[in-house]
Amino acid sequence: MSISIPKGTFDILPHHLLDKEEWRASEIWNYLESQMRQIAREYGFKEIRTPIIERTELFQRGVGETSDIVSKEMYTFLDKGQRSLTLRPEGTACVMRSFLEKNLNNKSPYHKLFYIGPMFRYERQQAGRYRQHHQFGVEAIGSAAPESDAECIALLYTLLKRLGLSHITLHLNSVGDTASRQHYREALREYLKPHFSELSAESKERFDKNPLRILDSKAPQDREILKDAPSILEYLDEDSHSHFQRVCQALELLKIPYCLNNRLVRGLDYYSRTVFEITSSELGAQNSLGGGGRYDGLIKSLGGPDLPAFGFGTGIERVIQTMLSQKVEIPADFRPQLYIIPLGESARQQCFSLLQNLRLRHIAAEMDYSDKKLKQSMRYANNIRAQYCLIIGDNEIATNAAQLKNMDSGNSHQIPFNLESILQEIQ
Ligand code: HAM
Repeated sequence: MSISIPKGTFDILPHHLLDKEEWRASEIWNYLESQMRQIAREYGFKEIRTPIIERTELFQRGVGETSDIVSKEMYTFLDKGQRSLTLRPEGTACVMRSFLEKNLNNKSPYHKLFYIGPMFRYERQQAGRYRQHHQFGVEAIGSAAPESDAECIALLYTLLKRLGLSHITLHLNSVGDTASRQHYREALREYLKPHFSELSAESKERFDKNPLRILDSKAPQDREILKDAPSILEYLDEDSHSHFQRVCQALELLKIPYCLNNRLVRGLDYYSRTVFEITSSELGAQNSLGGGGRYDGLIKSLGGPDLPAFGFGTGIERVIQTMLSQKVEIPADFRPQLYIIPLGESARQQCFSLLQNLRLRHIAAEMDYSDKKLKQSMRYANNIRAQYCLIIGDNEIATNAAQLKNMDSGNSHQIPFNLESILQEIQ
C-alpha cells in the first residue's frame, strides 16, 4: 500500500513533473518568494524566522479563545515531555513571542519584520483552503502613526499589482478600541435579537460569544438580516475615528484605491482600529488574498510593554492561483538554457568539462548522462523545456563541430565546439 499525503496538504514540485495544478510549480513559488523579499526590502522590512511549533498557550492568549482558529482548528499535541505544543496557525503571535522573549523593544523603538512560511489550520478542505498553507506576512511594531497602517497596506497592494493582478479590491474598516467594540457588540446583539430564530446555526452559536463574527457570515439568510444592521463605524471612539480618517487620507495620498466595508471584522481577536482585506473576484468563496490590521493591545496582553503594531498575512497559494487564472505573465525561470547530449566516451568527458564552464558563466545547463538513444534524450530535453540542445559525438569532437538545435523553432545548425561559440549562440 502506498502512503498518501495528509488531507489538505500538497507537494510543491518542479513544473515539468506536474500535469495539472500548475500553481504547485516550485519555479513559480521561487519567483513569488523573490518578489516578496524584494518588496519587503524596499519597504524596510527585515526577515524573521520562528519555529513552526510553539507552546499552545501562545495562541490561546495571542489569537483568542473565541476565534475559530483557536477553538476549532489548531493542530495541538503533547510532546514526549508532556508539554502542549501547537503547529502555528498564523505568524503574528509567534513574532510577538520572539519579540518579547528577546526584549527586542529595548534594542530599537521600531521593528519592521517579515516572514514567509507554512501555517497549519485544521479546516474543512475546499478550493483555496488548505490545512497547511503558506503566508508572506509583515509586522510593524512600535508605531501608532496612521502612515504605518497605510505603509503596510501599500506594500501588499503594490506587491499584488506588481505581480500583474487586476480585479482586486481593498476593503477597509475600523473596529475601534475595546470600549467602542463593546458598545457595538451590544448594539448588534440588540439588532439581531428579533431575528435570532432565522439566523444560521453558526451565527446562532456566535451570538453570545463573538457576535461581530456574524458580520462575516456567508449564509444568505444572515446576509439578508445584516443588510440593515448598525455600522461599527458609527460606534468608533473619537481617537479611532480620527486615526481611521488619517489612514484613509494616507492611502489617498498614495493613490491606493480602497472601499469602505463596515462589515469587515476579520477572524482573529487581536485587532483594534484599522482592519483590511484584499480580495480577488476570481477566487470564489475563499476570496481573501490577504488581510490584517492594527493590534495595539496584543503585546501588552502577552505580558509585554504597551506597544502599538500593525501587520498583515497573505496566502501564497491564493496569490499564485489568482495569477494563473488571470493569465499574468510569470517570468519564472522554468527553462534550462542548454541541454548537452554527448554521444560517445570522449565527447562525454569534454562535454562534462564544458558543462561546468557554462555554469561558471551563470548559464543554466544540463547534460545527459544516460547513454540512452538520441531520440529518448531529445524527448527528455523537450520535457524539461530546454531552450537549446547541443549534440556532439566522438567523431565530431575530432572535427570540432557540434549540432545546436533551437528547441522552440526546431532548427539546427552546426557550430564550433567551444565555450565562446556556444555562448554567442545561446545568449
Ligand atoms: P488570516 O486572515 O487568518 O490572518 O490569514 C491571512 C491570509 O492567509 C488569508 O487572507 C488567506 O489568503 C491566507 N489563508 C488563511 N487561511 C488559509 C487556508 N486555510 N488556506 C489557504 N490560505 C489561507 C492572519 O493569519 C494574521 N496573522 C494576519 C496578520 C498579520 N494580522 C496582523 N499581522
